[in-house]
Amino acid sequence: MAQTYALKYLTQAALSAPKDMFNAWMAKHRPIHPTVLIYQCTFVCDARCEMCSNWQRGDRKSDMTLDQIRQVFASPLWKNVEMAMLSGGEPTTRNDMVEVSQVIIDSLPKIRKYGINTTGLTPHRAIPMLTKVAEYCAEKGVIFSTRVSIDGVGEMHNEVRHVKGAFEKANKTIAAMRELQQRVPFNFGVSATIFNKNIDDCENILAWAKKEGLDIVFNMVRFSDPMLGNGELAAGAVKPIGRDEERLRQFFLERVRMDPMMDGQNYIHMHYADMIGNGYHREAPCPFQTQGIMLNPDGGLYFCENSQILGNVLTEDPEELYFRATSQQHRDWIRDTQCPTCLSPCQMNVAAVKQVVPYVKFLVRATKEKRKAVPARIPAHAGSLSE
Ligand SMILES: C[S@@+](CC[C@H](N)C(=O)[O-])C[C@H]1O[C@@H](n2cnc3c(N)ncnc32)[C@H](O)[C@@H]1O
Ligand code: SF4
Ligand code: SF4
Repeated sequence: MAQTYALKYLTQAALSAPKDMFNAWMAKHRPIHPTVLIYQCTFVCDARCEMCSNWQRGDRKSDMTLDQIRQVFASPLWKNVEMAMLSGGEPTTRNDMVEVSQVIIDSLPKIRKYGINTTGLTPHRAIPMLTKVAEYCAEKGVIFSTRVSIDGVGEMHNEVRHVKGAFEKANKTIAAMRELQQRVPFNFGVSATIFNKNIDDCENILAWAKKEGLDIVFNMVRFSDPMLGNGELAAGAVKPIGRDEERLRQFFLERVRMDPMMDGQNYIHMHYADMIGNGYHREAPCPFQTQGIMLNPDGGLYFCENSQILGNVLTEDPEELYFRATSQQHRDWIRDTQCPTCLSPCQMNVAAVKQVVPYVKFLVRATKEKRKAVPARIPAHAGSLSE
């Protein structure tokens, strides 16, 4: 499955390479319209995770209504968005999540890929909603991807999410999505966020995902007020440090060594290993540097998870807000002060295949790592181990 996925990416990348290279060149000379969007449609949540504080700030009254979303997405700001991701909070807590998705898909003339992150913790809502979105995307020729978050096997997941029976509930959604894949084409997998609490469960989660035949991506814990509301956790004990960090680095390297080279997640895992190994100096590309945008539930507009707020799309014209000189100066500030140490993998695998040089560098390095995975041969003269 991972290879089909990578093949699809690479085919897409090859087809759009001339345009992507032109965009990248343009973005060096003047600001361009965004091509990648993260829309956090609500901070209301059905979990109370230890590593994310969005659940504490969920407020339905401040979420943009469907009509407001329709009005905001009528702006020409979004005319070049090719990839949109719906996140939160928990998107499925919105009764109108399907309609929100349809408005977004219908408003973006260039959309190619639409994704949803979900807890899967409320299966009786999530399953019919995700089914409808998958069907709608298939009808519109948009690639749909969804991932259920799993941060531990069994009780560990329940504890991280502070939800009784969370693992069982999420598995109900997982089973339904896999059944749906028999009928509707879409990418499906799980994602695990690793922090000090569940670091010992990494291998368990991986073994479970492999046994279940599920595509899995691992996230390393990070801190962002605009995206996760968890800036205050950065000073606490959530982040793995010292020996735990090194263990995590080895775990990510092992993923690079063992997983198929063309796997879309390989680049992300290598990025984490690099960041830990080199004292958090970012080498990986990020589409948000020049062509990403993040929209929050109340209409707050940000360049990315490390951006300050540019303004609010409900009270100001979105396109003017994005392109105004002070916003663009802020983007330069992000590039100079935030990017060099930023851990974010947001859509990095997408950016990687779009940018030929870093991707080739990655392939070379990944090949070197893979060689290290080949077990040393026992010399012919060594005899049997029982001797
Ligand atoms: C913020 S959640 C929103 C969607 C949905 N509520 C969920 O949990 O899947 C999106 C993704 O961010 C991950 N995440 C949560 N806290 C994080 C953190 N501190 N660092 C990195 N990723 C985190 C979640 O595990 C999830 O995969
Ligand atoms: S990670 Fe997702 S489920 Fe957990 S609190 Fe954050 S938004 Fe909610
Ligand atoms: S700060 Fe991070 S997420 Fe933002 S543009 Fe830079 S690398 Fe990307």
